[in-house]
Amino acid sequence: MKARAKIIGTGGYLPDTIRTNDEISEMVDTSDNWIYERTGIKSRRIASAEESAASMAEIAAKEAIEVAGIDAGEIDLIVVATGTPDRVYPSTACMLQHRLDIRDCVSFDVQAACSGSVFALSIADQYIRTGAADKVLVVGAEICSRIVDWSDRSTCILFGDGAGAVILEATEEPGILSTHIHSDGGYEELLYCPNPQVAKESVKDQPGFIQMRGNEVFKMAVNTLGRIVDETLAANGLEKTDVDWLVPHQANTRIIAATAKKLRLSMDQVIMTLENQGNTSSASVLLALNEGIRDGRIQRGQIILLEAFGAGFTWGSALIKY
Ligand code: UT7
Repeated sequence: MKARAKIIGTGGYLPDTIRTNDEISEMVDTSDNWIYERTGIKSRRIASAEESAASMAEIAAKEAIEVAGIDAGEIDLIVVATGTPDRVYPSTACMLQHRLDIRDCVSFDVQAACSGSVFALSIADQYIRTGAADKVLVVGAEICSRIVDWSDRSTCILFGDGAGAVILEATEEPGILSTHIHSDGGYEELLYCPNPQVAKESVKDQPGFIQMRGNEVFKMAVNTLGRIVDETLAANGLEKTDVDWLVPHQANTRIIAATAKKLRLSMDQVIMTLENQGNTSSASVLLALNEGIRDGRIQRGQIILLEAFGAGFTWGSALIKY
C-alpha cells in the first residue's frame, strides 16, 4: 500500500505584543476604518527584539510534537518556510533542529514567500509518498515586522509575526489527497523585498523593506486562486460541495471571500485569523489550520482545502482529508 501523509499534530505561536490599527494610525496617514474595510485587519502581533523565526518556530513545533504524541527524535525531515531567517545560513530549519535537540535528520528551508507553507507541505507529501520520510515537521515562521517600512502606509498595515507547525506521518489512508504548486517569476516587480547586503550594485541602495503594488497583486491573487481551486478539485474528481473547510492564506478578507464564493462556501466554513493576526506570510495557513483543528471546528474525516498566493508569484493548494 502506498504511503500517504496524515496530520497527527499542529501547533502555533504568536508574540505577545499587539499592534492595533489605531496605533498604526499614529505612525502613518491611515485609519482603523480604512484598514478594516479594505483588508479585514484590526491588529497584528509584533515579535520582541529577543525573538527570531527560529525561536518562534521552536514554540510552534514543540506544541505540534506534543499534540502528535511523538518524540522529537522520530522526526526524519524538517521543512521550514520563511522569508525572514535570522541568518542567510545555516537554514532556520537547521537552527530549529538544534533547538529540538535532534541530532540527525534532513532539515532545510523553503523560500516561496506567502505560499511557503503550502510549498513545504507539498515537499513533505512527496517525501512521504516515496517512502523517503516517515515523520515530517513542517513549519512556517515569519517576522514580517522587521522587513516592513513602518513609514509606508501601503504595506505596514498588512503584516504581522507568528509561526505555525504541523507534524505529518506516513499512513496507508490519506491524509493529504493532493498538492498543487506553481511559480511564475515574471511578476518580481509587483512584490519583492530587497536584500541590500548581497544585492548587485544597481539595486544595492534599495532599503530592505517589502515593496508592493498592492492593487495589481490583489487582482492577480483573486484570479489565480480561483484557478487553483478548479485545478485541485478536478485532480481529485471532487465537487465544490465536497469541501468542508477553506483554510486560506490570510492576506485580505476580500481575496478570501472571492475564493470562498468560487467554492460556494459560506464564510462560516472559512478559517479566518486575519482580523487579529494580519498577514503572517508563510506562517498564516498553518496558524489558521492549527486554530481550526484545535478549537474543534475541523473534524476528522472532513475535507479541507489549503491555498496560498505570494511573491514570485508563487501559488498553491493542498487538499486534505483530515
Ligand atoms: O500576501 C501576499 C500577497 N499580498 C496581497 O495579497 C496584498 C494584496 N493587496 C491588497 O490587499 C490591497 O491592494 C491593499 C489593502 C494593499 C490596498 O487596497 P486597495 O483597495 O487595492 O487600495 P489601492 O492601493 O488601490 O489604494 C486606494 C487609495 C489610494 O489613494 P488614491 O490614489 O485613490 O487617492 C491610496 O493612496 O487608498 C490609498 N491608501 C491608503 N489610504 C489610507 C493606500 N494605503 C492606505 C492606507 N490608509 N493604509
